[in-house]
Amino acid sequence: MTKKMSSKITSGDVPSPRLLFQLSAALEEKIESIQCMKSGKWLVCTDKNNWFLKQYATEKQFMKQWKLTEKLLAVRVYSIIPFHPSSPFIVEKNIFALMPFIPSSSRIYTFQMKKERETALRLLRSFHEQTAEFVGELEDFFSPLNQLTRWQKRLTFFVQSLPQLQHYFPKMLLKRYIEMGEWSLQQLMKRSWKKRDPVIIHGDVVAHNFLQAKTGQLFLIDFDLAARAPAMYDYLQFVNRILPIVDWDLDQVMAHEVLAEFKGEEEFYLQLLFPTDIFRECHRFIRSMNGNYQHAYDLTVINFQKREDFFLKWQNELG
Ligand SMILES: Nc1ncnc2c1ncn2[C@@H]1O[C@H](COP(=O)(O)OP(=O)(O)OP(=O)(O)O)[C@@H](O)[C@H]1O
Ligand SMILES: [Mg+2]
Repeated sequence: MTKKMSSKITSGDVPSPRLLFQLSAALEEKIESIQCMKSGKWLVCTDKNNWFLKQYATEKQFMKQWKLTEKLLAVRVYSIIPFHPSSPFIVEKNIFALMPFIPSSSRIYTFQMKKERETALRLLRSFHEQTAEFVGELEDFFSPLNQLTRWQKRLTFFVQSLPQLQHYFPKMLLKRYIEMGEWSLQQLMKRSWKKRDPVIIHGDVVAHNFLQAKTGQLFLIDFDLAARAPAMYDYLQFVNRILPIVDWDLDQVMAHEVLAEFKGEEEFYLQLLFPTDIFRECHRFIRSMNGNYQHAYDLTVINFQKREDFFLKWQNELG
């Protein structure tokens, strides 16, 4: 629903008049309409341009993305969307930033097609190649990510949530996921692994964080979860998202040229056995008790047998 400037602008889904005044002054453009796309994100149409306005949790959250964007643009990486130079806009401690609104192609970008997966992987690889160059310089802006510590916490939360979760999902399956998680974490913790240089990883590799423009250009967006860590973590997330799409055929996924360096790497395969997606979706479901149920149910219940076969196959090979 488009809210015209003449409509009552108060709070909630509509940015405050003070913010709109700041935006209009910085842009030197007349704001004609604001459309809330989803919580904390708006399409701002002016007499000259269309802008994407986003609210950030903290100034630090914004600054890391500003720095990253600045560095990438300096080396002519055009697959990211630049901020408007007047960003951020701060109103009563709320942080907002503007960037051009990119009209997306009529076909929604997903990882369903092989071609889409290939372009996403290549884009990720070039992103990592660039961020490897300046990760040290931006050390203060990007916290290091310790995957195993994070996973241990995720598993612990899942175990603690069992009494609630079992009202929604079969207890037997939930227990089996705990066994899978424990086994893979134990294997990962009991051995020492090859040292991997950190880069800035994207940290949230999902299809909707790739924006396919009407022009055909593909942008990597939303660096809220970017962190200092081995590039491998982004590829693990990617493969984790792809497996249910390709019927758990890991060999088919690993055939992508960008993933060749991880082929035969036990650490990579062991990490894939940790059901992080189940733990994450169940966590979200329990925390918000809203619309994620179907997705959590598909992953947890519908996909169970395929994941079980996948787990047993690779456990046998790696254990
Ligand atoms: N510059 C832009 N132009 C047009 N649309 C955009 C732009 N940036 C983001 N979007 C759209 O808004 C959505 C949400 O933006 P973004 O990913 O930055 O926020 P988010 O808080 O992570 O939301 P989500 O939880 O959906 O990922 C994107 O998936 C994309 O469809
Ligand atoms: Mg996003």
